[in-house]
Amino acid sequence: MIELLRKRRSIRKYLTTSVDQKSLDILIESLLLAPSSRNNKPGNFVVVENRELLEKLSQAKEHGSAFLKGAPLGIVVCADTTKSDVWVEDCAIASILLQVTAESLGLGSCWIQIRKRAHDSQKSAEEYIKELLDLPEKFRVVSIISIGHPDEIKTPHQSNDLDCNKIMMK
Ligand SMILES: Cc1cc2nc3c(=O)[nH]c(=O)nc-3n(C[C@H](O)[C@H](O)[C@H](O)COP(=O)(O)O)c2cc1C
Repeated sequence: MIELLRKRRSIRKYLTTSVDQKSLDILIESLLLAPSSRNNKPGNFVVVENRELLEKLSQAKEHGSAFLKGAPLGIVVCADTTKSDVWVEDCAIASILLQVTAESLGLGSCWIQIRKRAHDSQKSAEEYIKELLDLPEKFRVVSIISIGHPDEIKTPHQSNDLDCNKIMMK
């Protein structure tokens, strides 16, 4: 696990090759295995491979989501808010487990923040996505995770660049 964490970087450029079915099944399994508070499992995950829909999702925000149109896969991480009062945490855990699983499969990924982000001056990114995907009112959208075969090389973070001040040992 530490080796995966050492080499994982956010990947925003992808080859056009699609994610094979076996890898997709494993990615979905990682979401379903994610721990949740009281095992309430508020997460709902929308798997998008349709290019037209990915392009529309890539327009969810003015900044930081455009690269999704070049990804072969996007997974929209949503919560049924009636199932848990800590759905943000539960969905964040599912999102990062998905990213680490993608890394373990040789795939690149990037988190696209949706909750608390604007689509434009009138509409939130969440509202835009809920309309686009016809999601129920009680749903909230936390993130979209873009996934695909990397078309960029990023060097791992160097251990001497990491902020050791954040660790306190007593
Ligand atoms: C909560 C969260 C929200 C993020 N939102 C975005 C985003 O909207 N767009 C984007 O391109 N990257 C986004 N990222 C990726 C970060 O920019 C990235 O993780 C950070 O710069 C560190 O780079 P690394 O992932 O390569 O280590 C997000 C990451 C996290 C954890």
